[in-house]
Amino acid sequence: MDVESLKQEAGVAACSYIVDGMNVGLGTGSTVKYTILELGRRVAEEGLSIVGVPTSVATQKLANSVGIPLAELDTLSELDVVIDGTDEFDPQFNLIKGGGAALLREKIVAQASKMMVVVADSRKQVEHLGAFPLPIEITCFSWATTQRSIEKVLGCSTSRRMSGDEPLKTDNGNFIIDAQTGPTLHDPAETERQLLAIAGVVQVGLFNGMCDVVILAKDNGVEILTKED
Ligand code: 5RP
Repeated sequence: MDVESLKQEAGVAACSYIVDGMNVGLGTGSTVKYTILELGRRVAEEGLSIVGVPTSVATQKLANSVGIPLAELDTLSELDVVIDGTDEFDPQFNLIKGGGAALLREKIVAQASKMMVVVADSRKQVEHLGAFPLPIEITCFSWATTQRSIEKVLGCSTSRRMSGDEPLKTDNGNFIIDAQTGPTLHDPAETERQLLAIAGVVQVGLFNGMCDVVILAKDNGVEILTKED
């Protein structure tokens, strides 16, 4: 099966977690896009009543375009669930996220959610995190100093993410540093702790112990992995 069909299968399957009355965090990326499209269809055709909280401007636009009612996270006490994509997940359900540069809002929304459901195709499942370059959101102020500090902590090379000829700016007006931590990153919790201690680091694309369920689309069908597995 081609990758796009796998993404669609995972994205749509995740909608089984959504029922009337839920406040739902809406992740960012090309897999969760299918979740948002399916939720929009259910809102329009089945009268599904939900409130969505988008994790990026791109997701906000997509959700608006398919008619999902949206709210600011600050106006809601708690979210029932967030559905989001990932760049890698390991057997402990630690994640590397931020390939789509939305990691800060994604983490804020995930922390505010009772449950995190991740949608992924089989390329995202790894034994150890680290082959995917670790995204780190940093301030624009003194960014090169922060980049050097990150390299010192991680002992690996890094690059500032570009968008064409310009440095990419996140929805929050920050830069992204991608760190070549591979082939493996053995202690995600300690790595996150060390990086967050650098003043210019705004957030790290490691989501440790936050994910509860992975909806994994493989050639032979969709598998639902839960944390106990
Ligand atoms: C955005 C993310 C995405 O969820 C992650 O990059 C996966 O995206 P895709 O489903 O397009 O592969 O973390 O910041």
